Amino acid sequence: MKRACVLAVSAWLASAAWAQSPAPAKDERRTAAPRVVRDAALEARVDALLRRMTLEEKLGQLQQLDGEADGRFRPEHLELARAGRLGSTLNVRGAAQVNELQKAAVEGSRLKVPVLFGFDVIHGYRTVFPIPLAEAASFDPELAEATARAAAAESAAVGLKWTFAPMVDVARDPRWGRVSEGAGEDPYLGSVMARARVRGFQGDDVSREDRVIATAKHWVAYGAAEAGRDYNTTDVSERALREIHFPPFEAAVDAGVGTFMSAFNDVDGTPATANRFTLTRVLREEWGFDGFVVSDYTSVLELIKHGIAADEAEAARKALTAGVDVEMVSRTFAQRLPDLVRSGGVPVATIDQAVRRILRLKIRAGIFERPYVDAGREQTALLTPESRQLARRAAARSMVLLRNEGGLLPLRKDLRTLAVVGPLADDRKAVIGAWSGDGKAEDAVSILAGIQAALGASVPVVHAKGCEIEGGGDEGFAAAVEAAKQADAVVLVVGEAAEMSGEAASRSVIDLPGRQLDLVRAVHAAGKPTVVLLVTGRPLTFPWIAENVPAVLLAWQGGTEAGSAAADVLFGDTNPGGKLPITFPRSVGQVPIYYAHKRTGRPPAEDKWNSKYLDVPVTPQFPFGHGLSYTTFELSGLTLGGTGITASGTLPVQVTVRNTGSRAGDEVVQVYVTDVAASVTRPVKQLRAFERVSLAPGESKTLAFTLGPRDLGLLDARFRWTVEPGEFRITAATSSEGGLTEAFTLR
Ligand code: BGC
Repeated sequence: MKRACVLAVSAWLASAAWAQSPAPAKDERRTAAPRVVRDAALEARVDALLRRMTLEEKLGQLQQLDGEADGRFRPEHLELARAGRLGSTLNVRGAAQVNELQKAAVEGSRLKVPVLFGFDVIHGYRTVFPIPLAEAASFDPELAEATARAAAAESAAVGLKWTFAPMVDVARDPRWGRVSEGAGEDPYLGSVMARARVRGFQGDDVSREDRVIATAKHWVAYGAAEAGRDYNTTDVSERALREIHFPPFEAAVDAGVGTFMSAFNDVDGTPATANRFTLTRVLREEWGFDGFVVSDYTSVLELIKHGIAADEAEAARKALTAGVDVEMVSRTFAQRLPDLVRSGGVPVATIDQAVRRILRLKIRAGIFERPYVDAGREQTALLTPESRQLARRAAARSMVLLRNEGGLLPLRKDLRTLAVVGPLADDRKAVIGAWSGDGKAEDAVSILAGIQAALGASVPVVHAKGCEIEGGGDEGFAAAVEAAKQADAVVLVVGEAAEMSGEAASRSVIDLPGRQLDLVRAVHAAGKPTVVLLVTGRPLTFPWIAENVPAVLLAWQGGTEAGSAAADVLFGDTNPGGKLPITFPRSVGQVPIYYAHKRTGRPPAEDKWNSKYLDVPVTPQFPFGHGLSYTTFELSGLTLGGTGITASGTLPVQVTVRNTGSRAGDEVVQVYVTDVAASVTRPVKQLRAFERVSLAPGESKTLAFTLGPRDLGLLDARFRWTVEPGEFRITAATSSEGGLTEAFTLR
């Protein structure tokens, strides 16, 4: 057992919680808002405006209303904007609609405060990029930043200045449909991706005409919904909040994210939308977040259904005083706060504080100076050849080669005939996935179309749908088998429809839906070289395929250029280099299953009295970090900068990666830390660094990483950040399983 030596480590500390954990010694608290740097001129401008506002106008800033699904505003919005009582909208978009409503606010209202126009730009506005889970599989933050930048430019061109993205919820339950919207199961990868996306959306100067304000959502633990059922309650310890769910949000704050969205779910007895601990203690007082918090859709009103508010007035009071600044869609703030202020139930100062936060961001976003958008730009900014090219690159870099027995992939382009079979082969809607902004299926390249374009007219492609995605019978099987028999090879495109993941799309069984597995078996039995290409927004369970079909390529929901990118990878123009950002289980009964699990006193073993199942191995089908290539790589020479460092020092880690095959390719070198014995239990390993490298055949590269106290420390039993002396193991690997390991001692 390691000596439990608590070291006060400064600035980067995740400091103690006040509400939930026992109060730590005073000098260990982070009392000031550390990241807030106020601009005096801006503050003066906000104050001057605030002084002139009536209570109704203030409450107007706190109100966000929904437009029509097609982007039009509602007639009522015009009146409210003229009265200075509409702070923001969601879903209203398009230069004409935005400019008309904005005109009512900035030319028709007393104080001329512009409306902020928000929308869910989750993985692209009109050009659809791969779903965020797929992009996380690229292990390429620069790519994620680039696609967010492109999405911001398109959004801003149609008058949107605010996106409700990135979703940074850590998600370890593939039944939850919204795994598709985030970066998967790992807090570290999630943090890297959160930072990249915030930078991409906002840039250095959010007032630029091609930038939008980002939102870190859903604060917090929304991904921990019990049983993977969306909107369900959670039961998360403070340790799990701080170690697993908080880090990507804190990373978003570090990157300067403008807004947070409070989640629908309960967090330890207080719904996230009324949770003072998370909204104020952690977000404001520990992290110094300076932007504003928007509720989720009607989540303030839903406090009544949660059973913590008797009526709308109580819901409004609880949400506002806990730290929600803007109410999305429901109207309890606007309607109930006037009486509450009069009765002394809510101080005006609390409302003023929320209004200040909103005005500050509106000023920073430049919409006072440039409230309108140029309708001409809308015509030229969308779906440009450059953004389509980026979408193609992003989709290809996100794909994960799960299996490739006998080097079946890449396929040759000089085949005599190729069969492309399956209900998702010619589906342009499925590939753009859920939450696809204003992306249009008709702009998308289906997998079939991408393959046909790559092969050209000289190679006949026989297509058979085989079956429906869901339901239906086996009437189409015979034609599919016949197509396979005529061909040199078969690509079977199976998976999920777009609406099977995303919001309100939980599944209790995550097998291939409908008759698709039977179709795969029937076509495979034709005896031709068979590739399964998966189009999906979440991990699926497919043990038979994983054991019997020689090649399995995970294409996710790749966006507008999914089909072109799939062809790039299938025929080897792009060598796949993606890695799983989330564990793929063998069976749904293993869920939750993730690589950074805690140890047990009875680790899995042969005899009976150990932690295991009778009917399925404890190991996943495919672990976090897994992904193959058309070439091979070898790691060697893992060296740590000495065998011992002090708690405040840094640990240089070097490892050499060599392309040992005959094709150029990418490998993602992953560095995991294991704390052998600590004062509190630790995960078996934790990802702490990674790098995706491209290497020519025979080429090798020595990668240098630096681990610091942040990577080696922990929150002690009282939630004080500490770095404890003792033994650590560092693993450099190409997946969360295996790799090279070296030990060192922290003194
Ligand atoms: C979702 C949010 C989304 C909001 C606005 C809610 O139902 O949970 O993620 O931003 O709707 O569309």
